Amino acid sequence: ALIDKGNHRHFMQKEIYEQPIVVAQTLRSYLQRMEGKVALPIPDFDLSAIRRVTIVACGTSYYAGMVAKYWFEQFARVPVDIDVASEFRYRAPVMEPGGLMIVISQSGETADTLAALRHAKSEGQTIAAVVNVPTSSMAREADLLLPTHAGPEIGVASTKAFSCQLAVLAALAANLAKAKGKLDEAEERDIVRHLAEAPAAINGALAYDESIEAMAGAVAGARDVLYLGRGTDYPLALEGALKLKEISYIHAEGYAAGEMKHGPIALIDEHVPVIVIAPSGPLFEKTVSNMQEVQARGGKVVLISDYDGVAAAGQGCLATITMPKVHPLIAPIVYAVPVQLLAYHVAVAKGTDVDQPRNLAKSVTVE
Ligand code: G6P
Repeated sequence: ALIDKGNHRHFMQKEIYEQPIVVAQTLRSYLQRMEGKVALPIPDFDLSAIRRVTIVACGTSYYAGMVAKYWFEQFARVPVDIDVASEFRYRAPVMEPGGLMIVISQSGETADTLAALRHAKSEGQTIAAVVNVPTSSMAREADLLLPTHAGPEIGVASTKAFSCQLAVLAALAANLAKAKGKLDEAEERDIVRHLAEAPAAINGALAYDESIEAMAGAVAGARDVLYLGRGTDYPLALEGALKLKEISYIHAEGYAAGEMKHGPIALIDEHVPVIVIAPSGPLFEKTVSNMQEVQARGGKVVLISDYDGVAAAGQGCLATITMPKVHPLIAPIVYAVPVQLLAYHVAVAKGTDVDQPRNLAKSVTVE
């Protein structure tokens, strides 16, 4: 068959392992690495006239959008509104001239996202579509098509499409920033250089597969799991929790680390594993102090950080997962890997159907 699992036990595992290649493939079509430039397809509208960005998606694609919101604001300084498609469509959103709607979808067919696209279009918004299926409805109906080159994704739980979406969205954010005069040549060169490091860093992350597998048993017995992160690692915490519930059926919640004290901290006891996603960087200290609040209440922490982070804060954790040291821009792309692998190994330990989880569909074409 054209599409098979190769040496892998599940499609999901195969797709996790394809990420260095498909992210490189995707980046290649959006970056001119030697020149240090981002290179998007030229839109037939004026990018510099975009005054507001609205991001709409569902599921994992929505979390890619949440990460991108940080980038659009940071680089291009445009206000960003983001919503899940099923809410956006029915809340009478305000859409003014100069608005760019970005839909993000692996399939390009998700009914809620497609309905949101059509609604925004009828309200005069310009539409960019980040989709993995270039012949899909969303691809056809958008003003600007930005394909991810992840290849066919078979596992119901999305993995490689997510990391490729992030790669495209980072390039788009840089491109918009450039069009709006918010990015000088040196800054653009830096962004391109950091993004180009992602495939090797993903490889580095995959090297920790066995140590993640070894600790999956500690999570597999839990009834509830909490994921914490700050900044672009907050959407990653949400994505980690989604992956775990989708395929292992363990109840999991992602929370902004700083928001934990406003509720979820009440859940903490020795039975609730808390996965803390905290690459070293400007937000590290703050996240670690939230982690210590968990530990002070007997919570069992799994810290995912780089060598420096693990050295600084790994003591007293149930387990640590050490990632390669990466620039904060690509951290959400690289840290997606341990989060996916953890969910994968927990599901395998529980014996659930990894590629075809109960009640879920790969592409949801009803609203
Ligand atoms: C379904 C899938 C998810 C996916 C979501 C959005 O719920 O099970 O993995 O993230 O749809 O799909 P899309 O194709 O629009 O990215």
